[in-house]
Amino acid sequence: MKQSQYVHGYSDREAERLSDQAMTLADLLHDDTCFPPGSRVLEAGCGTGCQTCIVTSHSPGAEIVSVDISRTSLEMAQARLEDMGNPCHQFIGGDLFHLPFRESTFDHVFVCFVLEHLPDPVTALRALRGLLKPGGSITVIEGDHGSCYFHPETRKALAAWHCLIDIQAITGGNSLIGRQLYPLLETAGYENIHVSPRMVYSDHSKPEFEEGFVRKTIIPMVEGVRDQAIMAGMVTPGDFDEGIADLHVTASPEGSFCYTFFKGTAIIS
Ligand SMILES: C[S@@+](CC[C@H](N)C(=O)[O-])C[C@H]1O[C@@H](n2cnc3c(N)ncnc32)[C@H](O)[C@@H]1O
Repeated sequence: MKQSQYVHGYSDREAERLSDQAMTLADLLHDDTCFPPGSRVLEAGCGTGCQTCIVTSHSPGAEIVSVDISRTSLEMAQARLEDMGNPCHQFIGGDLFHLPFRESTFDHVFVCFVLEHLPDPVTALRALRGLLKPGGSITVIEGDHGSCYFHPETRKALAAWHCLIDIQAITGGNSLIGRQLYPLLETAGYENIHVSPRMVYSDHSKPEFEEGFVRKTIIPMVEGVRDQAIMAGMVTPGDFDEGIADLHVTASPEGSFCYTFFKGTAIIS
């Protein structure tokens, strides 16, 4: 994937969104994330390091190497880990399809919100598989935009949401990938696969999800494709903006919002 095709881009706003997303979903996605002391872990597609901080704090003593194709994101990730008191964390720039490691280097591979952006996720999973030691494991976390429903479900809110799905598909990604984790891992040659759906449900009794998930994670993600969707003729500016206004209502006393992430783990023999 060329960096320029990456649907969410590398703006400051996107960096902030990734941070809000990681903090809001930390308990839901990482209650069982823990890599043992002394193990060698590869984080593929670390972005600005939001998940890196969580994985690192859950895995004291693990030796974690984080890679990303974006130098700018890696610099932000490095600064984040330094702020956290982890100046020795190793960051490497590179394409996860062609990483500069020998076969059988790692005990674990961690991938979060990356496969959904790749035109060929099976090839990516196979490339990462080659870097695992026999008996090594992989953890993959992805969303699935088809799992989303909300109230009130207006026509314009749905249209704006579908612009995100369609633009991501045009840029070579697949935002409906969460439900495919099991078959993707199996096709890529992994064994002992377990996939667990992790549902986020937000209503007015859960202000942390209204704010951290709907307003700060979901809506900015949809807003991020506004110009591309209008340019592609998918929607008029007025309808898109009304759709965004309607999505804000889902995070108000009258609204609710539901979305499911998928976490897969597997091993190689
Ligand atoms: C949505 S971000 C997720 C970042 C991080 N895992 C998180 O959850 O906050 C996807 C990241 O994957 C990276 N990426 C996409 N394709 C890549 C590739 N072929 N090799 C390495 N990184 C890649 C992008 O640069 C971006 O930083």
